[in-house]
Amino acid sequence: LRILVIHGPNLNLLGTREPEVYGSTTLTDINDHLKAVADSLGVHLEAIQHNVEGELVNIIHSARGQFDAIIINPAAYTHTSVALRDALAGIAMPFVEVHISNVHQRETFRHHSYLSDIAIGVICGLGAYGYEAALRFLAQRKI
Ligand code: DQA
Repeated sequence: LRILVIHGPNLNLLGTREPEVYGSTTLTDINDHLKAVADSLGVHLEAIQHNVEGELVNIIHSARGQFDAIIINPAAYTHTSVALRDALAGIAMPFVEVHISNVHQRETFRHHSYLSDIAIGVICGLGAYGYEAALRFLAQRKI
């Protein structure tokens, strides 16, 4: 099983960015931990972060044939991007949408996602553990 983890805009700032909302764990901490869990599960895992919407579209296209599933935190593009939705639909790869914070407790504009209805599942509000939960879910799922 090959899993690509995609982190969207501003997530490179994790650890220092609004720590009361997103915690003090850095993106490197999250990726290192995910790789360790993936190793223990016999899963091949790669993680990438990008701030630019079009680059995220390119990254999603490149995943075709290289990975079996995607874990994506689209960050702010969740709430704005038809392009990311179309890219994920276009490669027809199963994906889990993850948000660190509980977006439903927050501003109304964060309540809508352009991706959720085509995701296998959505995790929000579990903090950084949401990524691990998504990984463990995909590892036990028969694709
Ligand atoms: C986020 C929630 C989004 O609303 C926000 O724009 C982010 C991060 C989360 O992980 O909680 O950048 O996706």
